[in-house]
Amino acid sequence: MKFFADTSDLNDIKDLASTGLLDGVTTNPTLIAKSGREFLPLIAEICKIVEGPVSAEVAATDFETMMKEGEKLAEIAPNIAVKVPLTEAGLKVCKELSDNDVMVNVTLCFSAGQAILAAKAGATFISPFVGRLDDIGQDGMQLIEDIVTIYDNYSFGTEVLVASIRHPMHIIDSARIGADVVTCPPDVIRKLYKHPLTDKGLAAFVEDWKKTGQSIL
Ligand code: E4P
Repeated sequence: MKFFADTSDLNDIKDLASTGLLDGVTTNPTLIAKSGREFLPLIAEICKIVEGPVSAEVAATDFETMMKEGEKLAEIAPNIAVKVPLTEAGLKVCKELSDNDVMVNVTLCFSAGQAILAAKAGATFISPFVGRLDDIGQDGMQLIEDIVTIYDNYSFGTEVLVASIRHPMHIIDSARIGADVVTCPPDVIRKLYKHPLTDKGLAAFVEDWKKTGQSIL
C-alpha cells in the first residue's frame, strides 16, 4: 500500500519524506489556499522533495481551459499527476492527458459508477472521498470495497487512491480491502506510530537499562 500525504505544507512533506515512508503527495485548491503560497512554484518545490506522484488540481471546469491548465501543470515535473474533477468535461481531459502519457488523478468520486467511468477514461488514480461520505451518513469504506472489486473484475489499471481520510481506521480498512493508495493528512499518518503499550513498554525498558549501568557505545 502506498502512502501519500494530503497536504501542501512543505515542512510536513519534508518531515514525512525523511521517514522514507512517503510515496507521493496530493494537493487541492483548499490546501493551496491554506498554504498562502503561489501555486506553481509551490508544486515545483514539492516535486523536488518527493519522487512519487504529486497531484496538482486544475482550477477551471470547462474542457478547453482544463486542458490548457493540465498541460501547463504537467510541464512542471515528470512526477506531476494532473487532478481533474469527476465531471464529463473532467473525464474528457483525463482521456486526452492519459493518451499523452500524463498521469491523471480523478477527484471528487462518490460512487462506483463514477469510478467505472474514470477507469474507462484511463485515469491513473481514482480518488473516492470516504470521510465526506461518512460525514453525510453514507458508508465510505463500502464504496472502496465496491470499487476495488469492480476494478479487479475487469483488471482495470486505475489505482484506487482513498481520499478524505479522517483517522487511522480509514487507513487500516483501506489496507484490508486492498486499496492501492491512501492519501492522509500528516497527523493521521503520525497517529499510526502510536500505541499506549509501546510507550509504556519503552519507558520500562529505558528504566531497566539504566539499572544495568551499562552503555552500548
Ligand atoms: C485528496 O485528494 C482530497 O482532496 C482530500 O483527501 C479531501 O479531503 P477532505 O474531505 O478532508 O477535504
